[in-house]
Amino acid sequence: MLTKEQVWELARTVHPYGVKVRRDLHQNPELSFCEHETHRYLATALQELGYSFRAGLGGGTGLQVVIRGARPGPVVALRADIDALPIQEETGLPFASHRPGVMHACGHDVHTAILLATAKALWSIKDELPGQVVLIFQPGEEKNPGGASLMIRDGVLDQPKVDAIFGLHVEPFLEAGRMAFGEGPMMAAPDELRVTIVGRGGHGATPHLTVDPVLTACQVITALQQVVARNVNPFQPAVVTIGMIQGGSAHNVIPDEVSFVGTVRTMDPELRRLMPERIEAVVRGICAAAGASYRFHYEHGYPVLVNHPEMTALARQAAVDVLGADKVEQMEPSMGGEDFAYYLERVPGTFARLGARAHDDAAPYGLHTSRLMVDESCIAVGVAYYIQVVQNFLTTGSVTP
Ligand code: NI
Repeated sequence: MLTKEQVWELARTVHPYGVKVRRDLHQNPELSFCEHETHRYLATALQELGYSFRAGLGGGTGLQVVIRGARPGPVVALRADIDALPIQEETGLPFASHRPGVMHACGHDVHTAILLATAKALWSIKDELPGQVVLIFQPGEEKNPGGASLMIRDGVLDQPKVDAIFGLHVEPFLEAGRMAFGEGPMMAAPDELRVTIVGRGGHGATPHLTVDPVLTACQVITALQQVVARNVNPFQPAVVTIGMIQGGSAHNVIPDEVSFVGTVRTMDPELRRLMPERIEAVVRGICAAAGASYRFHYEHGYPVLVNHPEMTALARQAAVDVLGADKVEQMEPSMGGEDFAYYLERVPGTFARLGARAHDDAAPYGLHTSRLMVDESCIAVGVAYYIQVVQNFLTTGSVTP
């Protein structure tokens, strides 16, 4: 067992490496499932560190490293996501994105840097590890079906059989040096809704000779809010957001069709099953009243992210060990989605929040914004946490899921 001081010494030693990796990746962001240069960068880096690994996973750009300790024991996995978003960066950083319209605006560059720096740190202590550590570099977190599901299909939880998994996400509203943990359902299942209202177009001056899909779509969208207001238990979180509506071409023409798309988010599997049924009932009823017809598509996204109680307690303790109890907070649930949920469906584990707000930043920008800033001191914190969680899990042994 490393002492707290030894863990920090290791984390501080690899911190400059982590910062360099983060900036390299930040400059070269790639969209989901197109992370070819990132894949090459990680493969080269892992080679330089001395590791053997599996590459080309999860649709082509994922990697898996298995660190075998000198002694037999349990298997713990750590995961980073490597993809970026279609956002034009506006941070003005010297290492801002070189790719127009693409940015690491969800901090996945930081997650990947932390995991690679952790790999570097673990190299020096791998002979003392009582078990194995699996490092998962996963593509496509931001895009259905989620790189996690493809990595699982490619056996990252089975070869070797993983006993527990840990992941983290930077949190720009939480101060760097702090972490947050929560057990149970913590992130929503983000499902997608696509509807086309089919009417009968005509002259804007003769509405009585048409079936107006613009008016019908407006009524449907308004009425959809009654699903959350009147079908969902008020103690049960749910969101229906229509984010895009398209139709029509001129002020005096009633079009044939209007389409809209939205996101439906729930935390409870039973409610998740009920939502498409209720939503379609509203669409059907209003279209019938208007004499319109409709096309309805409903696509399930990631599962609800459920943090395992026992593993959350273990991980929280690891954070307390390295940061102190006053730096470890309760995680608030969020209606955001996260494909780490797929791993947690298969093995116990927990997904934590890592503070990334600079001490003097009073008004930080959020994730998925063009001005997201991350205090890079969180890289050493992430590495120290990962080393400690690996150590705590491997020494406490197996878990009962
Ligand atoms: Ni993210």
